[in-house]
Amino acid sequence: MTQSDTPIDVLIMMGSDSDWPAMSACHELLDELNISHEVMVASAHRTPAKVHQVAASVGPRGVKVLICAAGMAAHLAGSVAALVDVPVVGVPMPGGMMDGLDALLSTVQMPPGVPVATVGVGKAGAKNAAVLTAQIMSLSDADLAKRLRVWRNDQAKGVEAKNLKLQDTLKSS
Ligand code: RP5
Repeated sequence: MTQSDTPIDVLIMMGSDSDWPAMSACHELLDELNISHEVMVASAHRTPAKVHQVAASVGPRGVKVLICAAGMAAHLAGSVAALVDVPVVGVPMPGGMMDGLDALLSTVQMPPGVPVATVGVGKAGAKNAAVLTAQIMSLSDADLAKRLRVWRNDQAKGVEAKNLKLQDTLKSS
């Protein structure tokens, strides 16, 4: 996980490396859709100066969407949204006393004027963060829109394959 000055489309920030087991799903799908991105750890509470430094680099690097994951009193996405002009997608992480409900409310309940596009808790949210990011970027990238359409068609085929398998199992039982 590195930070550099090179241009990048998407930046994934995590409050801790303990968020990686969930957030790797986001990274993998961005890879699959061929969306350039970086992953880094920066904490709104433990390394606030770094969060400001990274937020300041977003414009110069041409970052189009930021994805921020944090758990517990999850302030990373909101802190970053206060500092940048691009869309911020927030992914609440499981864990803590409420296993993600605390992080969900911390991430989603932003004051008017500073939105965080909040997805679900954990791995499903991480994957949806990648899909939502791809949808946002598809508005100005026709090739990516095609790749995303293919991915969604494959997803639908996968569901149908599961249905057929279930029907076979039921027939033979
Ligand atoms: C949050 O606190 C992180 O995003 C993580 O979800 C949670 C716990 O962090 P660690 O104690 O595992 O580093 O800031």
